[in-house]
Amino acid sequence: MASCCYQTDYRRLFRRRMAARRAARFRKRGLDGTADALVRSLIARGVDGATVLEVGGGLGTLEAALVQAGADRAINVEISAGWEESAAELARELGLSDRLEYRVGDFVDEAERLPDVDVVVLHRVVCCYPWADRMLEAVASLRPRLVGLTFPRDTVWVKAAMRLFNLALWAQRLQFRVFVHPPDEMLQTMERQGFRVVDDTDHGFWRNVVLEAD
Ligand SMILES: C[S@@+](CC[C@H](N)C(=O)[O-])C[C@H]1O[C@@H](n2cnc3c(N)ncnc32)[C@H](O)[C@@H]1O
Repeated sequence: MASCCYQTDYRRLFRRRMAARRAARFRKRGLDGTADALVRSLIARGVDGATVLEVGGGLGTLEAALVQAGADRAINVEISAGWEESAAELARELGLSDRLEYRVGDFVDEAERLPDVDVVVLHRVVCCYPWADRMLEAVASLRPRLVGLTFPRDTVWVKAAMRLFNLALWAQRLQFRVFVHPPDEMLQTMERQGFRVVDDTDHGFWRNVVLEAD
């Protein structure tokens, strides 16, 4: 599979120590502003009884918020196993262990083994994956009603920051890279799959877009 060499590096970068630190921060402060805005926008469009898929969900805090808001259950498909222990601990603390599932794998490879879902969340994930179109087409194949997407804004300063980050990764001899995929191309991919943008807001470094199936 074209993505196999990347998988090794995801596990080197998104490790248990990072997960534990992020979990501690979440316990103290909850969702950050961008994540909270995306979750609120999805809730405003109805998540009652929904099956949620979070792609590259890390700790799974966004899906947890959607389940707390009325969704039935959620699946987090994560390419890195590094988050799993902290995600399970958080799910226990929130009383959601039986409604949040963590699966390890590349979502693009896993998609054909997943059930259809109602809501898909991709929060800061397409920027960690080289092939945004493949990821978005795999999302559409699950026939969701709502998709929440957060990606880096296509600005000079965001691109410069991402280049610096890639330089630091290169210096650490990691193969993993971050990407600023052209937003128009990503949104056109979704439009071709029958989705339209219903919410589109900038949050500093990030852009939140919510799409609905026609
Ligand atoms: C920057 S982190 C964001 C984690 C989480 N969504 C959040 O906002 O806290 C990106 C995550 O996407 C995961 N990821 C990247 N490509 C993936 C793929 N093809 N399938 C599943 N997970 C993926 C990485 O392992 C990483 O945990």
